This record gives sequence, C-alpha cells and structure tokens, in this order.
Amino acid sequence: MQVESQSLKKTFQNNFFIGAAINEVQIDEQDPMANALLKKEFNSITTENNLKWMYIEPLPNEFNFDKSDKYVNLGEKNNMHIVGHTLVWHSQIAEYMNEIKDSTTMAKAMESHIKTVVNRYKDRIHSWDVVNEALKEDGSLRESIFYSVLGEEYIERAFKLAAKIDPKVELSYNDYNLCKPSKREGAVKLVKRLKKNGAKIDAIGIQAHWKLNYPSLDEIEKTILAFSNLGIKVMFTELDVSVLPNPWELFGAGVEQDFKKFEGDPKMNPYPTKLPDSIQVQLAKRYEDIFNLFLKYQNKISRVTFWGITDKQTWLNDWPIKGRTNYPLLFDRKYQKKEAYSSVIKLKIQN
Ligand code: XIL
Repeated sequence: MQVESQSLKKTFQNNFFIGAAINEVQIDEQDPMANALLKKEFNSITTENNLKWMYIEPLPNEFNFDKSDKYVNLGEKNNMHIVGHTLVWHSQIAEYMNEIKDSTTMAKAMESHIKTVVNRYKDRIHSWDVVNEALKEDGSLRESIFYSVLGEEYIERAFKLAAKIDPKVELSYNDYNLCKPSKREGAVKLVKRLKKNGAKIDAIGIQAHWKLNYPSLDEIEKTILAFSNLGIKVMFTELDVSVLPNPWELFGAGVEQDFKKFEGDPKMNPYPTKLPDSIQVQLAKRYEDIFNLFLKYQNKISRVTFWGITDKQTWLNDWPIKGRTNYPLLFDRKYQKKEAYSSVIKLKIQN
C-alpha cells in the first residue's frame, strides 16, 4: 500500500470504527493540521468535553448547543460515526445539580436533560454513552449525586428514557478500569440487571486509559469475553497509553493525594523534551499487542476510539499532574506518525 494513502480508518475498515475524541478547537476547525488528520485517519468522533452537562445545560433548562451542533455538523460533513459523550455523569456536571437533595427534582432534572439532548440529535448522534463511571473500584455503585438522591434505579431510568426518545440509537455504559476483575464483575452485574429489568443496552464502553504494562493482555482478553458473552458489543472508547510515572502506583492506591505538590517535579516528568527511543519502542510494542488482540476479537469489537488525536493536546499532559509531557497517542506533537502508528498498521498489511 502507498504510504500517503495509508490510514487507520482504511486499514481497519472491515474490523471496527477507528475514532478520536476532539476538543473545542477542533470542533471549531481552528487546528487545521489536527482536522486534516481527523479526516484522513478516523471515521468516528467523540466530544472530549462539549456534550458534558456543565457545558450543555449550565443552568436548569438553559441549554447551550452551539458547540455540540457544530460537532455533529462536522461529523456529518465527513460521514463519520458520531458518538455522544455523555448524558449522566457525576463529574463535569453543572453546579446546581450538586445542590439538589430531593428525588422528585433530581428525577425531573435528569429526565429533562436526557429528553432534550437525545431528542435534539435524534437520528444524528449514532451512539450515546448514557451513564459514565457509575462504579467504584470494588464493583459496587459509586455514591454519586444521582445514586445518593435516586438510588441505583437512576441507571435503568436513564437507559429507558434514552431508548424511548431515540429507539434506534446505540446505548452504552462507559467506565474506566473495567479490566480490573472486581470492577469488571460489578459492570457485568450492572449490565445483567439492566437487561433483566427490560432496559435496552447495546454496548459496553471500556475507556482504556492504559499504561505500558497495565492492564495485562490476559485481563483485557477476559474483559472482551465477559461483556461479549452478555450479548452486547464491546467498544474501547478512550484509548491512550501513558508512559509517565503514575502517582497512585508510587504512593499507594486509594490515598487521596494532592498531586499539586508534584507539579514541576522532574522525577514525575522524565521526558520533557523527547521520548527516549527505548520507550518509543515499548510504546509501539504495547500498541501492537493491544491491536493484535483487538483483531483477534474483531467480531465482538465495534469501535476503537483514541482519547485525542496527537500528543500535543492529550489530556494526559495535565492529568493527574499538571504541566507534564506525555506521549500516549499514535501522532506526535508535530502531527507526525509515531512508531506505534506503523506497528498497528503493519498488523494488517502483513496479514
Ligand atoms: C477528560 C477530558 O479529556 C479533559 O479535557 C477534561 O478536563 C476532563 O475530562 N473519563 C471520561 C472523559 O469519561 O470524559 C474524561 O475526559 C477522561 C476520563
């Protein structure tokens, strides 16, 4: 295949959608190099932020659809599979929601949010992350504002509402660390419960904010099987591979650290100017292994979305420690293909 005509979306066109999360600058088409890559390489998009509650309904029943309209238009213009992220999430929520303490008001607020947003993009957004991050690490339900006020039934209610408004749209539950056995089991139970109670759930969104050596391929494989055995599609919705030291690993999980104290600490930001070749090779190998597994289960996996286009704008430069230089994606800060890009493409060309 000619190198110039090569692309991720063409290479994997018979396997799964290849998506990217896009930020506001890209929605506004103010980052021409990124937008060119988006068009050439990807056939699906997710909003990195602009469909979240705090942006879309910042005040009760006052909706702001400027950016999300532009987003959906951009996807349609480029013939893309358009993802809506996300309807019900405790984080990046409008402030007034945190103050609601009675169940009638909370149920109404959730209902009106889902109705208005899903209805606006009916037949245009193809897939909704209906509920995001409802589980704790041990697999039990997180005590979010929705859970605290409405109880566990809020999840089922959200799915049923979305399905009622747009019966054809794909509906998913999305979360991180789903390859961790305890959390995976919690999510499996959740999906089973939803199905048993008559809610429509089509897919699981495995965020896939991963590391060079975590999670293991074995756990990823078990996760693909656990969810596909439930009869739902498996999607990797926020893929990136961090190469930087992880404060939780260094200082213990569960410790509520204030990571501000690590800002500017060179030990936590070891590659401020360039990724050493040895790590570049490890990253390429990691992506190769991951995609090899994805291809093995291509009939169960419907979408693989990267959380960003290039290393220049990845959220991992600022999370969980601000101001670092991370290298988690397939394109570098100069919008060039990295070794990891070739290692992924090669899997198909050789076969
Ligand atoms: C992140 C965005 O990438 C950041 O720009 C924002 O500041 C915080 O949220 N899980 C999710 C995503 O479901 O919505 C998060 O996105 C990353 C973790």
